[in-house]
Amino acid sequence: MAILNIVKEGDPILRKKCRPVTEITPRIRQLAEDMAETLIDANGAGLAAPQVGILRRMVLVDNGEEILTLINPEIIAAEGEQEEMEGCLSVPDVWGITHRPARVTVRAMNLAGETIEVTGEGLTARCFCHELDHLDGVLYIDNAVHILTPEETDEMLKEREKED
Ligand code: NI
Repeated sequence: MAILNIVKEGDPILRKKCRPVTEITPRIRQLAEDMAETLIDANGAGLAAPQVGILRRMVLVDNGEEILTLINPEIIAAEGEQEEMEGCLSVPDVWGITHRPARVTVRAMNLAGETIEVTGEGLTARCFCHELDHLDGVLYIDNAVHILTPEETDEMLKEREKED
């Protein structure tokens, strides 16, 4: 296991379209393990392969119960709406408000090569959309309804501390 370097906004790799994973090789399994360790270390909710410099269609999402590894993921259903806070490990110290569906179902392959379907609401739904966008070179700041000012960010962080 290894903690990988997270690529930051401005690096052209984040703007490229990723290719599908054609086979679950030991290298892909290793990548999934390293990405999981990196995600936990960074205290994030999700991580996409291009964020660690790998242009493959693979993302990890922490749904609060487990870290899902989603290979060649596709959104097959989306319903409702939400406007909530979003951030990205590749865009540090920036927060924005995004408009996303409230409930999202993703079909993907897992590390055993099986097709799975997972549904998420709230943060997990946002995370599915956000991570899948990364696979097509899209960052949430491209579509954010509003990017928080430094003052608004301070305010938000203070409120979060209270909640904790
Ligand atoms: Ni991101």
